[in-house]
Amino acid sequence: MCGIVAYIGREEAFPKLLSGLKRLEYRGYDSSGVALMNGDLQVVKRKGKVSELEQAVSGMNLTARMGIGHTRWATHGAPNDVNAHPHLSDGGRLALVHNGIIENYDILKKALTKEGYTFQSETDTEVLVNLIDAIQREENLPLEEAVRLALTRVVGAYAIVVMDRDDPQKVVAARKASPLVVGLGNDAFFIASDATPIVEHTNKVVYLKDEEIATISLGKGLDIKTIENEQQRPYVQELDLKIEQLEKGGYDHFMLKEIFEQPQTVQDAVRGRMHPIEGWIKLSGIEEYANRIIHAKRIIIVACGTSWHAGLIGEYLIEDLARINVEVEYASEFRYRNPILTEDDVVIAISQSGETADTLAALEIAKQRGALIYGLVNVIGSSIARLTDAGSYIHAGPEIGVASTKAFTGQVTLLTLIAINLAHKRGNISEQRYHQLITELSQIPQKIERVLESNKKVEYIAAEIKDRPNALYLGRGYNFPVALEGALKLKEISYIHAEGYPAAEMKHGPIALIDEEMPVIVIANNPSAYEKIVSNIQEVKARKGYVIAVVPEGDEVISQLADQTIEIPATDEPFSPLLSVIPLQLLSYHIALMRGCNVDQPRNLAKSVTVE
Ligand code: AGP
Ligand code: GLU
Repeated sequence: MCGIVAYIGREEAFPKLLSGLKRLEYRGYDSSGVALMNGDLQVVKRKGKVSELEQAVSGMNLTARMGIGHTRWATHGAPNDVNAHPHLSDGGRLALVHNGIIENYDILKKALTKEGYTFQSETDTEVLVNLIDAIQREENLPLEEAVRLALTRVVGAYAIVVMDRDDPQKVVAARKASPLVVGLGNDAFFIASDATPIVEHTNKVVYLKDEEIATISLGKGLDIKTIENEQQRPYVQELDLKIEQLEKGGYDHFMLKEIFEQPQTVQDAVRGRMHPIEGWIKLSGIEEYANRIIHAKRIIIVACGTSWHAGLIGEYLIEDLARINVEVEYASEFRYRNPILTEDDVVIAISQSGETADTLAALEIAKQRGALIYGLVNVIGSSIARLTDAGSYIHAGPEIGVASTKAFTGQVTLLTLIAINLAHKRGNISEQRYHQLITELSQIPQKIERVLESNKKVEYIAAEIKDRPNALYLGRGYNFPVALEGALKLKEISYIHAEGYPAAEMKHGPIALIDEEMPVIVIANNPSAYEKIVSNIQEVKARKGYVIAVVPEGDEVISQLADQTIEIPATDEPFSPLLSVIPLQLLSYHIALMRGCNVDQPRNLAKSVTVE
């Protein structure tokens, strides 16, 4: 996590750093800080949001043409002013911002302490800045060379930007497993964790690769070398990102905007990949490796959090339609349990950010073992997108709210396309069924539109249950993962304890929790399990639980039983999660808002988890 931003140019650096930090705040908001090069290194940093930093600098003279900034998600050391970045080397010559974890920081710290270095903070980052300083002094090296040598001694993940008070014309940036983008402006350079702070200044960017070190100075431009000291030619790309995509566009919160964008983002996920009238689905990534994927013995899906929930829906879809064996794994567990993998396996990684460290590491193992690796990623040019053999972008546009919404439905839409496509290629479904599925999938954006009309009703229900300390989410089949996702959404933004369960599993334990205090949210829009779900609702009502049911439009049975119902359009069962998740997203949004929680930036979380 953490957001990094840097500027070197002919204009005032601080306003650019500040607006960049605001754009990156979704990546971490434990503290923020800047270091400005103005003869000396001027550092200002504060615990808390970027707004705290903004207040702290009021009245200060911040004139500088070059600077670095950071917004932190703490891994080593409490979120406080001292642990906030930038960190200075002992003596104050170097300033550094860091995203990632230096795993061998303890050994390095002991060695540096023996050499006489003292440390102010508890961070691993301060160790790195002192290591660079020590190497530079010992051998009297230019900054970029000292950075390169220091990084050969580091174990872990990093994106860093460093400035040297004694060499005030240049910044040095480097990355391994944490992202970094260089923006090429008019007589100016920007460096950032992602393109969001850059797009308002330039659309020309260079994505640094792992173990590349970039040296940037106004006179000499951008120079890239690898950690092995090999010269690299920068590959300049044009950004396909519009500034409006980064604004709230009239909504109070990014999360609400992103929920309401879903008719469009689901449409964008299928655009050019499916034709309802001509009746075809084509995914270039799948076509490229068609033979291997069609004949895969197994598909293993690796992901974390909400993306893992999308993966579970993928399992239902691919097994049901394409009849290929699917396993869904938490990336963090998969990588550490010596998984059995062969060249006949296909591993699909699902990730909004494309930077999740656990998912990346799982993919690396799969790659080493010869499996075909496929990415379903939202952020273009991200690490997972670059590591995979093939893949499909979700095309949901920037997702800023920390709680994932539109990326989830985008992921599920792509998994649906993949499942239908494979089912057709493998001859598991008739032409008629193929066309029927394509036609129904093309209706989903309009149906999501209709689900969104229930917003007021959902808000009313939110007010009814906002003060309850717990909630239970139940679903069956395709909608079991939706129950997990509904519970996660509630937990992460409203801090209410919530659990998702397969509805039938309730009687094996969780039923003991049910009393009149317990809201039970039942997703009841799968036609095949309708009667069974009705029975589950009866079981909850018999124990006085408060039932909120998501039901198909016009339902008459459940509405008699449940305390509240939310009606959504009927659809073919494999598509039901794309509709049923929407009211659950809205429910958690309204509850969080009513409880006074920070919807877009919930406590302790950050948007992309680039540490293990
Ligand atoms: C979702 O609301 C989360 N905050 C989180 O679970 C997220 O889905 C997870 O960290 C995976 O992120 P990714 O999709 O960027 O890999
Ligand atoms: N490890 C560093 C710290 O704790 C950076 C954290 C991060 O990238 O999230 O400050």
